[in-house]
Amino acid sequence: MEIVVLGSGAGGGFPQWNCNSQASNRARHGDPKAKSRTQSSLAVCANGKDWVLLNASPDIRHQINTTPALYPAEGLRHSPISAVLLTNADVDHVAGLLTLRESHPFAIYGTGRVLDVLGANSIFNVVNPDLVPRRPFGLGQTVDIRGTDDSDLGLRVELFGVPGKVALWLEDESKGANFGSVEEDTIGLRIEEIQSGKSFYYIPGCAAVPNELKARVNGTDLLFFDGTTWTDDEMPRMGLGPKTGKRMGHICMSGAEGSIAAFAEVSIGKRVFVHINNSNPALLEDSEERKEAEKAGWIISEDGMEFRL
Ligand code: MLT
Ligand code: MN
Repeated sequence: MEIVVLGSGAGGGFPQWNCNSQASNRARHGDPKAKSRTQSSLAVCANGKDWVLLNASPDIRHQINTTPALYPAEGLRHSPISAVLLTNADVDHVAGLLTLRESHPFAIYGTGRVLDVLGANSIFNVVNPDLVPRRPFGLGQTVDIRGTDDSDLGLRVELFGVPGKVALWLEDESKGANFGSVEEDTIGLRIEEIQSGKSFYYIPGCAAVPNELKARVNGTDLLFFDGTTWTDDEMPRMGLGPKTGKRMGHICMSGAEGSIAAFAEVSIGKRVFVHINNSNPALLEDSEERKEAEKAGWIISEDGMEFRL
């Protein structure tokens, strides 16, 4: 199974369009130790030809154009993209669907919550449901991913809920402290190559690491995990915005309460941070925070990074 990190950044990417921080400016000016990152998405392939995207980022056009495996390969109109799996309705995870118009058939898989969002926002009809079926998948289910012609793509997906909250733009303040979030608003995926039984976990948004989650991923070859912030309060502290990581539904990397400590004793082949926010100093290859994360065994992913299981 081949896995490509199409976009390793969080919502906004790095540099974010309106961010004038030193880090964003280093990225903007091509500093090799402050590499630019597009928004959150992976691509997976089990059969050497059909690719399944995990989330569709607003940067998908650029991501396809910089990933030869995703180039059209047959006839005058073609794409190796056969399905898109959505983990939530964040802008950084669904807006790329709008770019995938132009009458290419592929299957969209999402929870009821996410498919309701697509249904309620008619602009998503540019991805014509007659050609691009929307297939519900739910928590606790294991689903074999199929192309629009019902072809077997060789991938099996298991969905599970993780601590988190509803997408920012769907928050309902009248519904109390959790803004009307339900369990399926934040999900993780276990992706298995059916033929070999090899698998990995993809959890791009997660607010905490309970024991149940540690037990679930224990023994895995590969984990892609929420790397939004380094410290919980970095955005307000740096003057970049009022929200803490917790308020956004994301656990930080560092400290006693962070993800590095939480997974320290868990057996994981490769542990990789994705969905890394422009405020996170671990993005910078010459930072102490980067050194600390790498010393703890984590890979800070970058766009185009490839993994093979
Ligand atoms: C998130 O991951 O919290 C969201 O992508 C934030 C956003 O929509 O900017
Ligand atoms: Mn996001």
